[in-house]
Amino acid sequence: MTESIGTVDANPLRQNLPRARVPDPCAVVLFGATGDLTHRKLVPALYHLARGGNLPSECAIVGVARRDWTDEQFRGELEKSLSQNGDPDFAEFWPQFATRLAFSSGTFDDPQTYIRLKERLDQLDVSHGTRGNRLYYLAVAPEFFSTIIEQLGNAGLVYPSRQESPWSRVVIEKPFGHDLASARELNRDVTSVLDESQVYRIDHYLGKETVQNILALRFGNAIFEPIWNRRYVESVQITVSEELGMAGGRGGYYDNSGALRDMVQNHLMQLLCLVAMEAPVNLSADAVRNERVKVLEALPHWTPEDVAKNVVRGQYVAGSIEGKEVPGYHDEKGVKPDSKTETYVAVRTTLNNWRWAGVPFYLRTGKRLPKRASEIAIQFRQPPTTLFEVDSDEAGGANLLVLRIQPNEGASLAFQAKVPASRRRLQEVRMDFRYGTAFAVAPPEAYERLLLDVMLGDPTLYTRTDAVESAWRFCDAILDAWARPDAPPPAPYVAGSWGPEAADALITGEHSGWRRL
Ligand code: BG6
Repeated sequence: MTESIGTVDANPLRQNLPRARVPDPCAVVLFGATGDLTHRKLVPALYHLARGGNLPSECAIVGVARRDWTDEQFRGELEKSLSQNGDPDFAEFWPQFATRLAFSSGTFDDPQTYIRLKERLDQLDVSHGTRGNRLYYLAVAPEFFSTIIEQLGNAGLVYPSRQESPWSRVVIEKPFGHDLASARELNRDVTSVLDESQVYRIDHYLGKETVQNILALRFGNAIFEPIWNRRYVESVQITVSEELGMAGGRGGYYDNSGALRDMVQNHLMQLLCLVAMEAPVNLSADAVRNERVKVLEALPHWTPEDVAKNVVRGQYVAGSIEGKEVPGYHDEKGVKPDSKTETYVAVRTTLNNWRWAGVPFYLRTGKRLPKRASEIAIQFRQPPTTLFEVDSDEAGGANLLVLRIQPNEGASLAFQAKVPASRRRLQEVRMDFRYGTAFAVAPPEAYERLLLDVMLGDPTLYTRTDAVESAWRFCDAILDAWARPDAPPPAPYVAGSWGPEAADALITGEHSGWRRL
């Protein structure tokens, strides 16, 4: 985690989550409290939850980090970043929120840190009525995950899982491991102290409203599911494109990670799960997570030759985005000058199951692409016969359903309509759903939903260990192939373009190439 303190996204349209069940009183302990994630995402999410009446009044927030801050300094820093969040009543609401905030300093490997933290939490139980319930959030660099969990265990800060009340739960940020072996090792460390039911592995994509809407669209309507299979679907494209390069001093972290580990192993795999899974029998955490993991288990086991045919990696060189010159990856701060880390990945895969056999799923993600846009496009097959003339349409009149994850959150369905006054000419038209217009609000931030769920003890939107391991199993085959001496290096692409040309070759012989968003 970087130590810089960012600003908070202003979004006056942002929606409060509807008031649901209010969680138990609890203390939220943020390890990595001076870092970027805490300031940009976690505390703003807690603030917004409190503002919408979704936090119990007996809820304290304790920051833990190396710096020798007092409560007042911690509050001062948070006030600076939160005051920019566009809340017109900030001045009025802040003093009340600030009383929830406390700071406890110390290094993560020092047992004294946890003795002090325990004393502080005991005091807060009395002063703030937090009743011994503890939510620990590890917003720290991954090398600290095992240490913190071990120290929490040693200090008696986690309770036996059988105990319903008070409870202790731990949220672990991504990345969960660097590959399958390290993920298993981390899991051994974690489960030597905690029960699986106390572990919440976060993938913030699952908390996005539009991502949750994938299941609502598929299983809350009767019309999509009958055609959601190999008979009617020709291909699926999942894109998460970013304009940003190595912003916020992330070069050092990213250079050891790369697009496959940073985005594909988690966010793209989860999108794939939601779009391809079977209907769960109900919406309980296990029912949903069982179906998600089956998708990952249906991914192929690739040899290096398969990887060479189905995966393209790229790395950006200097270019321009929206008329602004941007440096190449090698010139970013924290990046090794001869780095072979990929900043772009495109994957063509299939799923070995009855529903999807033979249907290509195209996944791509990259930094320094022309725009920030995430979407899932379901390309349906062409009508079986051609009665009409289709207007210069590459997809030959086939329907396309696009689920826009961000921005312009919503969905659109393209279909053919007769051009007025023509005899048999068709033209593509669209039915469009936009969150902003339909609900007159922007969707709530992912971290709000996710924090609320962990306080309520609902792990549905968190990743279970079997899913983490299956996703690594697939990605490890790619990493192993790339590590071979004869593997070609990442293909260069100009910043501001849609990635390396080699990726175009993944989609040939079908109606459409990669979508230009
Ligand atoms: C993070 C990645 O998990 O997700 C970042 O580490 C990436 O590299 C970010 O920029 C994208 O998240 P979002 O919500 O902005 O799409």
